[in-house]
Amino acid sequence: MTPTPRTILVTSALPYANGSIHLGHLVEYIQTDIWVRFQKLRGNHCYYVCADDAHGTPIMLRAQHEGITPETLIARVYAEHRQDFADFSINFDNYHSTHSPENQYFASLIYTRLREKGHIHSEVIRQAYDPVKEMFLPDRFIRGECPRCGAKDQYGDSCEVCGATYNPTDLKNPVSAISGATPIEKDSEHFFVKLGDFEAMLREWTSSGTLQPEMANKLNEWFETGLTPWDVSRDAPYFGFEIPDAPNKYFYVWLDAPIGYMASFKNLCERTGLDFDAFWGEDSKAELYHFIGKDIVYFHALFFPAMLSGAGFRKPSAIFAHGFLTVNGQKMSKSRGTFITARTYLQNLNPEYLRYYFAAKLSCRVDDIDLNLEDFLQRVNSDLVGKVVNIASRCAGFIHKRFNGQLASSLPDTALYQSFIEAGASITENYEARDYGKAIRDIMELADRANQYVDEHKPWVIAKQADSEVELQAVCSEALNLFRVLMGYLSPILPVMAEKVINFFNAPLPWQPEVLLAHTINPYVPLMTRVEKAQVDAMVAASQENLQATVVEKVEKTAPEKSAIEPLAAEITADDFGKIDLRIAKIVNAEHVEGAEKLLRLTLDVGEAQPRTVFSGIKAAYPEPEKLIGRLTVMVANLAPRKMRFGVSEGMVLAAGSGKSDLWLLSPDDGAQPGMRVK
Ligand code: MSP
Ligand code: ZN
Repeated sequence: MTPTPRTILVTSALPYANGSIHLGHLVEYIQTDIWVRFQKLRGNHCYYVCADDAHGTPIMLRAQHEGITPETLIARVYAEHRQDFADFSINFDNYHSTHSPENQYFASLIYTRLREKGHIHSEVIRQAYDPVKEMFLPDRFIRGECPRCGAKDQYGDSCEVCGATYNPTDLKNPVSAISGATPIEKDSEHFFVKLGDFEAMLREWTSSGTLQPEMANKLNEWFETGLTPWDVSRDAPYFGFEIPDAPNKYFYVWLDAPIGYMASFKNLCERTGLDFDAFWGEDSKAELYHFIGKDIVYFHALFFPAMLSGAGFRKPSAIFAHGFLTVNGQKMSKSRGTFITARTYLQNLNPEYLRYYFAAKLSCRVDDIDLNLEDFLQRVNSDLVGKVVNIASRCAGFIHKRFNGQLASSLPDTALYQSFIEAGASITENYEARDYGKAIRDIMELADRANQYVDEHKPWVIAKQADSEVELQAVCSEALNLFRVLMGYLSPILPVMAEKVINFFNAPLPWQPEVLLAHTINPYVPLMTRVEKAQVDAMVAASQENLQATVVEKVEKTAPEKSAIEPLAAEITADDFGKIDLRIAKIVNAEHVEGAEKLLRLTLDVGEAQPRTVFSGIKAAYPEPEKLIGRLTVMVANLAPRKMRFGVSEGMVLAAGSGKSDLWLLSPDDGAQPGMRVK
């Protein structure tokens, strides 16, 4: 008896269109993709949409910084994101952008409906304004001294030293992180959504099983503090949609971001003829789930449902939040080489390893998850290569060589096969509940049993005995059929390997397949190779190398995974500057580094007994390093030595430009001598 298929719409949070996808993001997209693939495999009508989140001040400033239009920037990032996702087998039914006509339509519609029902009010507020850049300053673009402890160079909203939170206007000696100017205060009219109007509805909705218990508790705290009106407007200049009837006022990026889910789905409907209202109408019967990180629960559990219900749309069926990724037990870090982009990972390792490892670590809870690189290697090798693939690789050859690829016409142990099918009930439940770690534990137990079967029956021994053809074919067919059931269970996690298994068996791979008997299969091709430690090391080294290549002219202070752009370097004191030992350096040798994409190895005379070795990410700008030999430049001579894949780097040379081939080594005037201190 097959149950009636469910109709389900699923989203992942929309990544910002100003940075690369990294392994932290991938926790979410992999988690969601597995769930969607599982639903589809089970016969449900499930759609998965996402988009780039393309609006806001950081994107506008980043484009200015690069000297391009925001449209050019978001188009470039869009292409990059799509390629990254495709290469990790994240199978969106639609991937759109919040900078789209559909999104403008829905943002304006929802806002106007809220206004008509009296849920919007306007108020003149006073805010920090950069008189040089002629724009209002978001909190994170104002820096100054903490009003509580006096720490220097703190953000406009909180102090990283003492933890105080405050208003940007409370900062002492504030400066704009964009221009360095002292901000002035200026009045401007803003528009607010009256969240309080929705309190009763939100209390009801958030306590009715739509949220994980940890999240529902968090929400209760917010209700206790009271729901204050939400400012949804920003002044020009801003990259976003203009607010209807309010010239020069723009929707705040977080107003139109979640509406981007609707816009992307609308775009899918236009392409495929699906009925939009059947999913988003007030009386929709479809299920609607949003997968998000724990940092953006506020927007999804309060603002978005309030806007939806105020504007006559349905609310989500549930919000599924996950925790944050740490690498080797710590926050991802550029200097440790653990801030790893999707692309750097892909250049070194098979994406299915990561899909498997994340799945093994994921549960329905909001706990952070750790990628321990040592454990990653062990786990993938022992589970996938050592257990799962091993079953097939030990039996396939016999079927191919001795039986022309033909499987036996009956199984010797149908009860064993049946027990593998029955184990599917709890595996199904665990997938459904997003407890992938538990599902994998069950699947690996089955893999152990299948290997035990092979160990007990020893096909390699049977193969040497006379008159053992029937038995050999039967044992190998049993094991291969068990393997096929396992791969059905693993296919939401390992779609590429599943595709290879489909080719190998020359048969589709459903969830809980019927036994394959008297069927001709294809020759076995290796399904997955072992992870080598060298690959993992190379990935970490390459992540450090990327840093090396970009750090030349930037001071990075903000948490990289959340920073929108790196604000220009903050002001420093003469004392700070005095700590930097800048020296004239003579390039006595410059050469390519074997295996490094971006680096040159420089040997620098800085007037010391021994020359310094410096690895510098300037290869794209100086493809013929020998031409650098003999010239003078400037180096930071007291930088802590850094161990890199190719050796120890003992300093840094100074260059200007945005990176890659747009990079210019600094040169002193004639007469400067190696070792002179630069002041
Ligand atoms: N643009 C907003 C989301 C708008 S949704 C209407 C945003 N973008 S983001 O690029 O910063 O993050 C996208 C998703 O990735 C978020 O759900 C976020 O929680 C998740 N992650 C970003 N860094 C992460 C880790 N280090 N670990 C796990 N998830 C992380 O927020
Ligand atoms: Zn402080």
